[in-house]
Amino acid sequence: MNRGEQITAVRRRSRRRYLSTLAVVATALVLASCSSDLPQSSLNPQSAEASDIDGLWVLTLVIMTVIFVAVEAALIYSIVRFRKRKDDDTEPKQVHGNNRLEIVWTIIPAVILAFVAVPTLRVHFDLREPAAGPDVVQVEVTGHQWWWEFTYPEIIGPDGRPLITANELHIPAGRTTNLILTSADVIHSFWVPPLNGKRDLVPGQLTNLTLTPDAGTAGDVIPGQCAEYCWLGHADMRMRVFVETPAGFDSWAAEQLQPTRVPTDGPAAAGYETFTQVCTTCHVANILNEDGSSEVIGVAFGPDLTHFGGRETLGAGILSNTREHLAQWIDNPSNLKAMRPDLNDLAEGKILGMPDYLLDEAEIAGLVALLDGWE
Ligand code: CUA
Repeated sequence: MNRGEQITAVRRRSRRRYLSTLAVVATALVLASCSSDLPQSSLNPQSAEASDIDGLWVLTLVIMTVIFVAVEAALIYSIVRFRKRKDDDTEPKQVHGNNRLEIVWTIIPAVILAFVAVPTLRVHFDLREPAAGPDVVQVEVTGHQWWWEFTYPEIIGPDGRPLITANELHIPAGRTTNLILTSADVIHSFWVPPLNGKRDLVPGQLTNLTLTPDAGTAGDVIPGQCAEYCWLGHADMRMRVFVETPAGFDSWAAEQLQPTRVPTDGPAAAGYETFTQVCTTCHVANILNEDGSSEVIGVAFGPDLTHFGGRETLGAGILSNTREHLAQWIDNPSNLKAMRPDLNDLAEGKILGMPDYLLDEAEIAGLVALLDGWE
């Protein structure tokens, strides 16, 4: 083999290697799209709103596929049919401009775009329509760096206080929930892809979004998250939507409105002492007094912890709510989630995220016992 042949052989080998790598990558990408475990896919609509959006996507996909196939077929046909042949030296007919053709290929896309625009605008305006009525659940959503606050203004307890929870939104299947969104600090975006598109939460403004989960989704837990960069903890600003049967929703709401008990002995009682001294700087709990009345203690800067033990996740959906995770979280929250909790900023209310209060093991164990029991 001479030098030239060697070079050609090497080139051929590296080209083969390049092509086989490309084939592996392409196969991996195609197979990944077949995964059925896609809880945050818009292509798996589970509500009336998401189905409308999906319908628009399917419509444009069908139209584009037909155009793509027709154009590519015409192109390939022309390349093959009118290719230069060996024995043919005649020059093709030279054409400059064709008014009729140009008018036709301007009008056809305009008609197609108009055809797509009609349903698009209809869905766009439908999705912005706030919902009201006796069967509609109203929820005020407030975005915080970096967690979600959910207040149900029309579900009021005997003490006159509305239902308030954090990071886990419960809504009934087959009924519409009207979200009224705002932010306490910077712009966030509420996004639960199987239920609806994104909607920004803007400080000082109210935006709106409706969720009407399909009746068959009762019992599903659908993950969502913040979709607008909001600094350090953005990627960990997650949430869960618990779709309930209408009866299950009513009983969940009734439980949430109940005040929680103050433990009288064991580590939980010691934990309650720590809670009132440390945690109430930023958190609240609705406490049942001995005389049967209830009282909200603390400052509502962070999530309401009245029914913390009943939640499935902690830290805005980043970890399952186990005693072990809770102890790690209280020990040093910034180990588990990027935040900037500088205690020097506490007085100005500018603190971002949960600080490390340097609690000892016994104090942490007490708080874990307390909060785990607050179902
Ligand atoms: Cu909130 Cu990103």
